[in-house]
Amino acid sequence: MIHDRSDVARILDDPDWRVPEAAPGTSPFERLRNEASRFVNGPAHDERRAVLEARLAELDPARLALDAGALAREALAAGVDPSEISRRIPVRTLAAALGVANPESAPENAAMLAGPYASGIVDVADESRVDVAAERLVGASASACRPELDAQLLVQAHAATNGLITSVLRRAVAATDATTAELIDAALRDTPPVTATRRVASSDERSTPSDQAPAPHDADRLVELRLDGPDRDAAPGAPPRLLAFGAGVRRCPASAHAVAIATGVVDALREPAC
Ligand code: HEM
Repeated sequence: MIHDRSDVARILDDPDWRVPEAAPGTSPFERLRNEASRFVNGPAHDERRAVLEARLAELDPARLALDAGALAREALAAGVDPSEISRRIPVRTLAAALGVANPESAPENAAMLAGPYASGIVDVADESRVDVAAERLVGASASACRPELDAQLLVQAHAATNGLITSVLRRAVAATDATTAELIDAALRDTPPVTATRRVASSDERSTPSDQAPAPHDADRLVELRLDGPDRDAAPGAPPRLLAFGAGVRRCPASAHAVAIATGVVDALREPAC
């Protein structure tokens, strides 16, 4: 595990440190991970990443903020609990903007997938429900060519955006005068909602003692990179670097969208009740 943000930033910027790849498989959940950008390296990652960036460029963050705020106010007026609004509205907003069929069902499907998505490990008891959620999310996509990539956007949006909204609302209780933008900046810097990611150590860094020793498997070189650790380069006037959205060629492509949606929801939930 690597804690210091300066070391983590160096690794995230180094293309020799690869992401652990998705295991092959044919179940709907395995196909979703296999077709995503998140678990593939090299030219396949670059190509999928370009498709995602083009798709995200079709979505206007300012529009997403307005839509998320309107949906949050509507839910609040209907008596929905703020924690449930934070959990559902980000994915619901994105799903509608992406033209997904039945956008109101997308949050539950994304929530079912978000847990096992990062590691690929599914509890046996959950297998069939996870596969049904993957089938539904991919099947509802408006993208005829790359439906798995639209589904990936919704799964990746779920926990991280919910986590950001939750931590901002918590901060708002103690800092009623702070603007939502200030609270979001502080939350991203000090308590990022995605606390860690993983890489396979580059061959230069492996600890093979001699040429005779067998090359370690990827699993033996798996490293956890903390995104919320200390930063040895921080100093008075120079806060710790921001790694909440990662860094390098795999940096979150949707940071502007995430911040816009979080702003829309938080602003709605901070409005005084009449
Ligand atoms: C506050 C909310 C969010 C946070 C903190 C966050 C954080 C991150 C981080 C740290 C990574 C890099 C992982 C790595 O390098 O291993 C990442 C990647 C990614 N995120 Fe986000 N994310 C957020 C919201 C979103 C949203 C709303 C979307 C979709 C609309 C999204 C889509 C993606 C995608 C597709 C990738 C993979 C990029 C690639 O494979 O090159 N994220 N995110």
